[in-house]
Amino acid sequence: MQLTPDPSAVPSPPVAQQWWRDAVIYQVYVRSFADANGDGEGDLAGIRQRLPQLASLGVDAVWLTPFYVSPLADGGYDVADYRDVDPRFGTLADFDALLATAHDLGLRVIIDIVPNHTSAAHRWFREAVAAEPGAPARQRYMFRPGRGPNGDKPPNNWKSIFGGPAWTRLKRPDGTPEEWYLHLFDAEQPDLNWNNPEVRDEFDDVLRFWLDRGVDGFRIDVAHGMIKDPDLPDIAEGQAAGLLDGNTSLPYFDQDGVHEIYRRWRAICDSYPGQRAMVAEAWVEDARRVARYLRPDELHQAFNFEYLTAPWQAEKLRSVIDDSLSANSDVGAPTTWVLSNHDVTRHPTRFGGGATGARRSRAATLLMLALPGSAYLYQGEELGLPEVTDLPDEVLQDPTWQRSGGVERGRDGCRVPLPWEGTEPPFGFSPDGAQPWLPVPGEWRSLTRKAQQEEPDSTLRMYMAALRLRRELTGLGDGEMTWLEAPEHVLAFRRDPDVVCAVNLGEQAVELALTGDVVLSSAPVEQHGDTVVLPPDTAVWLRG
Ligand code: NOJ
Repeated sequence: MQLTPDPSAVPSPPVAQQWWRDAVIYQVYVRSFADANGDGEGDLAGIRQRLPQLASLGVDAVWLTPFYVSPLADGGYDVADYRDVDPRFGTLADFDALLATAHDLGLRVIIDIVPNHTSAAHRWFREAVAAEPGAPARQRYMFRPGRGPNGDKPPNNWKSIFGGPAWTRLKRPDGTPEEWYLHLFDAEQPDLNWNNPEVRDEFDDVLRFWLDRGVDGFRIDVAHGMIKDPDLPDIAEGQAAGLLDGNTSLPYFDQDGVHEIYRRWRAICDSYPGQRAMVAEAWVEDARRVARYLRPDELHQAFNFEYLTAPWQAEKLRSVIDDSLSANSDVGAPTTWVLSNHDVTRHPTRFGGGATGARRSRAATLLMLALPGSAYLYQGEELGLPEVTDLPDEVLQDPTWQRSGGVERGRDGCRVPLPWEGTEPPFGFSPDGAQPWLPVPGEWRSLTRKAQQEEPDSTLRMYMAALRLRRELTGLGDGEMTWLEAPEHVLAFRRDPDVVCAVNLGEQAVELALTGDVVLSSAPVEQHGDTVVLPPDTAVWLRG
């Protein structure tokens, strides 16, 4: 166990060389990216085969969602063995080969770490169930007696994020009910007790296991959840269990104690050569609270969920951008930007769907990629994929669907396998004849990567051009930005020395006095002398 930085720790590189500060990181949802073995689920070998396409897209790094041994009760965020690969996804040798290929292509790889809970199939939880109340095996999790004379009421009124109560009662094999255990998510995902030193030591070791294999960092699942208020107090009646709900005083989220864990993890990462970085998944309202995770001895980045959830509205976006930059700069951390991930409705659908959603999404991408800091892309957004909203009930796998009693359809619609090539579903996701785990819509024929590579105006080609320019133009990526005066519904800013980004979020075309050459736009724009006419829902980059 190592609590203070090792004196032999590798010294931090100068800020300008820290790769994560301006990296574009591509999220691979492993199950839905590419299926090499024909079982209908994506796998590590499939990812490895397709890595050259990610390198040519122009991203700097990939983030792999969990591929560990798991019953997949929550798509792999229910880990049964943190040190091995699920056979559906491959083997440790496949992981090593993927990592080596990525590194050869100049791509860094970060992996997901799931420390708030294990799977109920984890050895520890099985031992806990088999043990008596109060036994050490129980103390790795959050077991409590029930309330009421027979203990048949849960220990408190917390609700699962996926719906229903956050507590499940154990039964002995003869049916006798006994203690309850906490699960902020599915009942198959028991919460760990992070006040137990054994839990802390175990995760130190898990981090080292993957750092030793050469990963470039970690995405930390539910980074704001591991420490609970020790009194486990009830929440207010009617209070949402939810994450970014405007109320940060939930007794199970964003408790001060989590920061000690990250200081310890930072010391571990810093003791390895090669700039290992950690990003927090912390659905915490208020950029200043998020920035506390990014103090110099804690994590490197946090997802900017306030940005992700902001509406397509100039004033609101501007205030989120300002708040994020100011809160992060106070702690010396880069800001990140993100529009979609595997937990939210894809942004073309959020932004209105159809042609409007597609147009706004392209503009939103150019806005995001011109902002100072690092950006996260979710697989398929470079193809302009919309949410699939009409998946048949019987294929839905997100636990939210069951736990909400069929009210919330859940997140499967953003997890549909990617269309690669060809004219028939599943468009090269699986080898011919294999059925993917979720059906791929026939309408995606024109959205395959192959089709878009051949189409100069495609969304894919726009992403490739933007990522190439982001590398070529001085001023994009990390650094400062300066807002320029702009009419209502328009955002315009300069990235010194010579890049300007302007976005029209309104319904009318606007004429802007802007000098320089148009180097990229999300839709055709007209330039007359020093004036650019920006149609509705359009973004432009100029140089000069
Ligand atoms: C956040 C992950 O992104 C999500 O997919 C998962 O369901 C929860 N954490 C629980 O692990």
